[in-house]
Amino acid sequence: MNKSIVLTGITTTGTPHLGNYAGAIRPAIKASKNEHVRPFYFLADYHALIKCHEPARVRQSSLEIAATWLALGLDTSNAVFYRQSDIVEIPELAWMLTCVTAKGLMNRAHAYKAAVAENEESADADADKGITMGLFSYPILMAADILMFNANKVPVGKDQIQHIEMARDIASRFNHIYGEHFALPEAVLDDNAATLPGLDGRKMSKSYNNTIPLFEPEKKLRKLINKIKTNSLEPGQPKETDGCSLFAIYQAFASADEIEAIRIRYAEGIGWGDMKQQLFEKINSEITPARERYEALLEAPEHIEQQLREGAEKARSISMPFIQSLREAVGISRIGRR
Ligand code: TRP
Repeated sequence: MNKSIVLTGITTTGTPHLGNYAGAIRPAIKASKNEHVRPFYFLADYHALIKCHEPARVRQSSLEIAATWLALGLDTSNAVFYRQSDIVEIPELAWMLTCVTAKGLMNRAHAYKAAVAENEESADADADKGITMGLFSYPILMAADILMFNANKVPVGKDQIQHIEMARDIASRFNHIYGEHFALPEAVLDDNAATLPGLDGRKMSKSYNNTIPLFEPEKKLRKLINKIKTNSLEPGQPKETDGCSLFAIYQAFASADEIEAIRIRYAEGIGWGDMKQQLFEKINSEITPARERYEALLEAPEHIEQQLREGAEKARSISMPFIQSLREAVGISRIGRR
């Protein structure tokens, strides 16, 4: 059976939060158990350097993210789980791709354009202020991540769709010049993935500083849930579920029946304190077993390291011969007989 290759990377700059969990990690772990799929999931630690120059933070985040995925039950017998930096063929491929990528294509990347736009709005008129070549060519590194393993499907958030399109463009360009080496990847937006609001009602995101870390100890979890913003309606007054953060988060954790029951309680005027308690219990009961495994893993980091090394070995059994054939294709090989 030819399994379809699903690949995604997680940038190692932060602590996984409930939004990451419901939006990306939970669906990806579910997919890791699907026998028709061969998932490649990796810690995008070279991507971390684009926006974070704090070594301790990158290191800590790599540990936390790896522990999170393992604690949540990632099936590493099916999924290939690795650290990007262990696959030394990736930066090599990134260079080959850099040399066929039009600068004009990179000029159009949203992340770069947003940075330029921000500079142009501010008074001191250097459009390139604070923009590194890492940020500028980031879509090429991402293309190398994807093309290295000929991924067919790339589950990503909406903000990343453009990068997958760029990876397709870059792959086509390379194929056109050097022959058909790369499959053209497709972005997939998961139907099971939820976008959660954060403490302040905006999308939960580390850049808004409004997150609830996934494995916060129970007491802290309760405290943070109590901080989620609501309107000022009193208990007994009927409430809208639409636009209510508590309800939106509850939906990502509860069954259809439970959601219906809560809907009725909103109409009857459930108090916010009561709803927060319901939400806490729902999340806490889903997370608790994994939280225990997470804490145990953090006590045994060598176990995490071992898993990542095994993943790297599997990944490199593909990337090493593949980069060799790509070197040949571009004309980099031993002198003399081939
Ligand atoms: N850039 C992605 C993000 O910020 C992470 C990432 C790196 C990625 N390489 C990838 C995602 C390859 C999918 C495929 O979310």
